[in-house]
Amino acid sequence: MWWRDAVLYQIYVRSFADANGDGHGDLPGIRSKLDYLEWLGVDAIWLTPIHPSPNADWGYDVSDFHGVHPDYGTLDDLDALVADAGARGLKVVLDLVPNHTSSEHPWFSEPAKRDWYVWADEPNNWTSTFGGSAWTKHAEVGRYYLHNFLPEQPDLNWWNEGVREEFEETLRFWFDRGIAGFRIDVAHALIKDAELRDNPSVGKAKDRREDRVYNMNRPEVHEIYRRWRTIAREYDPERVLIGETWVPSLAELATYFGDDDELQLPMIFPFTLADLDAAEQRQIVEGAEQMFPEDAWPVWCGSNHDIVRFPTRWCGGDEAKIRCALMVLLGLRGTPILYYGDELGMEQVEIPEDEQLDTAHSRDGARTPMPWARRADHEWWIRHGDLTRNVEDMRADESSTLSFTRRLLELRRADPELRQGAYTSVVGDPGLWTWRRGDGCVVAVNLSDRPRSVRGLQGAIRLDTGLARTGEDATGTLLLAPWEGAVVGG
Ligand code: NOJ
Repeated sequence: MWWRDAVLYQIYVRSFADANGDGHGDLPGIRSKLDYLEWLGVDAIWLTPIHPSPNADWGYDVSDFHGVHPDYGTLDDLDALVADAGARGLKVVLDLVPNHTSSEHPWFSEPAKRDWYVWADEPNNWTSTFGGSAWTKHAEVGRYYLHNFLPEQPDLNWWNEGVREEFEETLRFWFDRGIAGFRIDVAHALIKDAELRDNPSVGKAKDRREDRVYNMNRPEVHEIYRRWRTIAREYDPERVLIGETWVPSLAELATYFGDDDELQLPMIFPFTLADLDAAEQRQIVEGAEQMFPEDAWPVWCGSNHDIVRFPTRWCGGDEAKIRCALMVLLGLRGTPILYYGDELGMEQVEIPEDEQLDTAHSRDGARTPMPWARRADHEWWIRHGDLTRNVEDMRADESSTLSFTRRLLELRRADPELRQGAYTSVVGDPGLWTWRRGDGCVVAVNLSDRPRSVRGLQGAIRLDTGLARTGEDATGTLLLAPWEGAVVGG
């Protein structure tokens, strides 16, 4: 169960590292940054979709599940990346988009595969996640096809055994090449109600909204993951299945673990979307601890390519808050996922209206190029943000947030309790979030504007967010300044 000990690092491939200088990231670029990732101390990288795609939704509209987009390189480049990463002890996880294909995928125009998609004579009331009806009339077929996202992303019909077999084959294709697992796009939504019933509306008057109960989170989706987990277990080491599970209820989310025979890591979006607030986030963490199966393992993240980066959303760019957030993410029991740049405190970038490239939403601001240095070496497909926080300068500065993240990762790696120890909340003053990991390790983070005291501690500070108190004896009472955190004992 290597993923339990791992820190994952999400790479938005188009924006990470550009080896040939053509303005967008690529696989050789990622390969050239393996030294950096090894130095940082992460264990696995998750690459956003690398497959051929017309890019209506920047790679999430796949036109060939077995290929590599020419913008990113070739299958040989991927093999080389997996081999080089493996030599450094780093695993490579890919993104799988099984809910839909691109409308340019050959399946969509193949009459024999018509039943691989979802069709209706008349649309029901389902709306697309990106707005408007989820149905578009196909001129040639004369019927409506379903798209829970863009019209260029027709939904597959997961009741069809041919679709299931095709994707199981795809899993094996990549697992055989050494891919360590998949992050599964909209994992909760593959199966649609067999009768395509209208969704109910909930809420009152102006807050009335569609309750997406028939096009998402159907009970039959679990059968798909039981089959996939069986395949993941055929490999050594076992392959990991990470779900993009937008499921608001923790009790419901808990079902995605199955009887330890479905997803190993269904993502916990209630945590990601909560404020950086001790009471609010602690309640979600405790809820997950209580409601998830006993042998289940959580996964935590603060940023990704669809939402506003946490250093902006949670922390308003404040360095002390960013370090506290990193200590929360990396100090909880579970697998953390860092989004590229989180380690620097990289912020959301304001993209002017006329430069926006994301036709679906305005998500570009979370997808800007990785700031490797103070000056950008060339123009990229999307503008850079402020380059003050950049790898080159922050790596040279032992007091930087990057150095802090690295030291936290180092501590995690060195301390089995911080990696695997049980989580126990410790009662404290408002705004203070303190928890124990295992028997001897305590993480205390003051998410408030007032000083707070942590009582009853044993041992010394092993790492503090200001990087100035390491080694200080914390036995008895530890005073934490506003937005200061520390790992103690262990
Ligand atoms: C979730 C992905 O993260 C997002 O970027 C994409 O637009 C939708 N799924 C549709 O694939």
